[in-house]
Amino acid sequence: MTDVEALKKEAGIAACKYVSSGMKVGLGTGSTVKYTVLELGRMIAEENLEIVGVPTSLATEELALQVGIPLVKLSEIDGLDIVIDGADEYDPNFQLIKGGGAALLREKIVAQESKAMIVVADDRKRVSALGAFPLPIEITPFAHQSTIRALGRVLDCRVNCRMAGDNPVITDNGNMIADAHCGPTLHQPKETEQRILNIAGVVQVGLFNDMCDVVVLAGSNGVETFVNPNGRIP
Ligand code: 5RP
Repeated sequence: MTDVEALKKEAGIAACKYVSSGMKVGLGTGSTVKYTVLELGRMIAEENLEIVGVPTSLATEELALQVGIPLVKLSEIDGLDIVIDGADEYDPNFQLIKGGGAALLREKIVAQESKAMIVVADDRKRVSALGAFPLPIEITPFAHQSTIRALGRVLDCRVNCRMAGDNPVITDNGNMIADAHCGPTLHQPKETEQRILNIAGVVQVGLFNDMCDVVVLAGSNGVETFVNPNGRIP
């Protein structure tokens, strides 16, 4: 296991301290929260943890079923106690960029329905300003090139259609992903989010503003927990 992989595992497992029996838990997507899902499966099997989960992607759904986490549909329950998810970047105000794994739409719906959001990350994800990581934006396949051009005009930066080889990446929702190369310039992420959402053809943007309550971060000092002073977890 590489150093980075070991850090992801540490953070992913440490975040499970926020989960207790009876909870409805949003299960994020990515290579860090994968370790949370595996650990929750272990806790169900070995420690009698009783939870239900809502996955944020088909990949997480498959993993959760493999490790024995009972799943429910978000539409059939009245919200979630908590979601644990990864992030591509987080800034000093706990605003996030997400969507590196193309799951941002379901992730954002699940986060919106959760009473608290825990982010698991390694310390490469901490930034002073968002945007060095290309900002993922889910867009409709219809007229996607026009939407990409409109995004480029509004953001004044290069915007690419995310590809898998010769074909556009298709999300779990049948849409495409545009990646906006803004650079570390997103000092007003709420305003940027609204400007992007105003463009017809945009389904959702991977700016998660005022959603994250806690970051569980693994770095050379071990695992540290950073609590958002304006968040919902004391
Ligand atoms: C998927 C996401 C992921 O949570 C994000 O990309 C972080 O993933 P990883 O833990 O693999 O770095 O937003 O859409």
